Amino acid sequence: MTTVVTRLGTLADAHGRVARDLRMSLTDRCNLRCTYCMPADGLAWLPTPEVLTDAEVVRLIGVAVGLLGVRKIRFTGGEPLLRRGLAGIIAGARALRTDEGLSPELSLTTNGIGLDHRVSELAAAGLQRVNISLDSLDRERYAILARRDRLDEVLDGLAAADATGLRPVKVNAVVMRGVNEVDVVPLAEFCLQLGYRLRFIEQMPIGPQHGWDRASMVPAAEILELLGGHFTLSPAPGRGSAPAEEWLVAGGDCHPSGTVGVIASVTGPFCATCDRTRLTADGQVRTCLFSLTETDLRTPLRSGATDEDLAELWTGAHRGKWAGHSIGRAGFRQPDRTMSAIGG
Ligand code: 5AD
Ligand code: SF4
Repeated sequence: MTTVVTRLGTLADAHGRVARDLRMSLTDRCNLRCTYCMPADGLAWLPTPEVLTDAEVVRLIGVAVGLLGVRKIRFTGGEPLLRRGLAGIIAGARALRTDEGLSPELSLTTNGIGLDHRVSELAAAGLQRVNISLDSLDRERYAILARRDRLDEVLDGLAAADATGLRPVKVNAVVMRGVNEVDVVPLAEFCLQLGYRLRFIEQMPIGPQHGWDRASMVPAAEILELLGGHFTLSPAPGRGSAPAEEWLVAGGDCHPSGTVGVIASVTGPFCATCDRTRLTADGQVRTCLFSLTETDLRTPLRSGATDEDLAELWTGAHRGKWAGHSIGRAGFRQPDRTMSAIGG
């Protein structure tokens, strides 16, 4: 008698890391034009036939979860709420089982616009958490930063996510020198008051026209100094592979205690514990945000590859994952695609 052993693989690399967290970009399009992410005129969008269909997205997520040990999926864009089939994709992902026999953890990174109208449907489909991008609470500065006057809609989205129980609601803010440093304390106060988990992010060289320069990046140390001038902070214990360096904030006159995070992607890279794999909206595996190469899964998928074939290609890509990015060092090359086309 023979027994068939199905061997589950993992996305292991040569540096001892295993990727369990998939960032799945669902579109490269967006209804904002955040200055650090896109040029004012937008980008040359992917032609529709090149974008994975809903069924193709679910199939590839199925390969990652069913054969490769992925346990968490974060849907990103561009703006993933622009994807009409989002609820169906979430439901499809929810039905999968990880190597631990559980549904994968499902979250969404979004600018929040229109979330209030869709959040119940998405939660019912299986969405568990959201990360909402919010760089200023000042309407004029928000409009300058995002090049669209839509702050109120973002705030409605945030409130709706909280009311629907997608907690903890996470908020991401990119800090830019001379632009929104003044928003750091008000954003923290607002999030503490409402019980949202705020994380400040160092601006990374992944924006439009390769316009990043180190001097205009506000380093984590400086963000912490701004926060420390107003709040009483102490380091939160335990970090793991989570990129946010968490701080406990003591309660104050106008806010309860809580936490705030500072993600030092540039000055304190966390590459050594990276557990991420990325798939672009057009079906390309990227083992790192800053990868200069991609592994095409869409072409084989459309020419009859089996799940095992696709798993093999994905595993092969990860075997070659580099140890880490080299931002700020000689020889660093910015990838051609920007954040909106890769998935944050
Ligand atoms: N540096 C840091 N964060 C960025 N994001 C987009 N572009 C950059 C950049 N150049 C963030 C957005 C959002 C998430 C998807 O990535 O603010 O929170
Ligand atoms: Fe859109 Fe996000 Fe890029 Fe802003 S950062 S333009 S919200 S994809």
